[in-house]
Amino acid sequence: MSGLFIAMEGGDGAGKSTQVKLLAQNLESRGHEVLITREPGGSPIAEKIRHVVLDVANLGLNERAEALLFAASRAEHVASTIKPALDLGKTVISDRYMDSSIAYQGIARGLGLEHIRNLNLWATNNLVPHLTIILDVEAEHGLNRVADPNRLEEESTEFHAIVRDAFLQLATLDPDRYLVVSANLPAEEIAEVIFERVLSLGT
Ligand code: TYD
Repeated sequence: MSGLFIAMEGGDGAGKSTQVKLLAQNLESRGHEVLITREPGGSPIAEKIRHVVLDVANLGLNERAEALLFAASRAEHVASTIKPALDLGKTVISDRYMDSSIAYQGIARGLGLEHIRNLNLWATNNLVPHLTIILDVEAEHGLNRVADPNRLEEESTEFHAIVRDAFLQLATLDPDRYLVVSANLPAEEIAEVIFERVLSLGT
């Protein structure tokens, strides 16, 4: 028995956490047992890595080290939180997952889409979500909504514009596994579109 695994992705300030909560409520009303989690972090050791990788004091962090830290956090998160919950038949919704690494580190940092994808497939023992939702937001609009910027959010608007295009490109390459929704729609409307697609997975 294995549960449903959904990832919520998108630029900074897209409103992911609101949508994670609304989707969880909708699924719970259908009888799902839902685990909400997030990256970087989502387990005690992974949360410690989160602290290192997002700390604005670590501005000089080497970009390959950054990619490895996100992957290390994810490996720990999968092994100690996500996989055990899926094995119990729970539905897991993660606020960010490996597509964030592909978009931010692989494409925006220029480390290479394939390198970062392969690194993360190895780190997670090939655990890929059944559905990845991309909340699409213009870089400038999203950044304006960020109150207390972390190390990545301190990057330029151009960097975040590349991240946005990267997410859209990933979705275009594999439409069966992705849903793109405009983050500019009212939250309730976004939640409806997402829930409909999740139900179509046969839940
Ligand atoms: P967080 O405060 O969780 O931001 P948000 O609310 O936008 O999710 O910070 C996570 C930051 O780390 C965000 O700027 C995206 C970035 N990130 C990566 O660069 N690579 C990754 O693999 C992940 C998971 C996040």
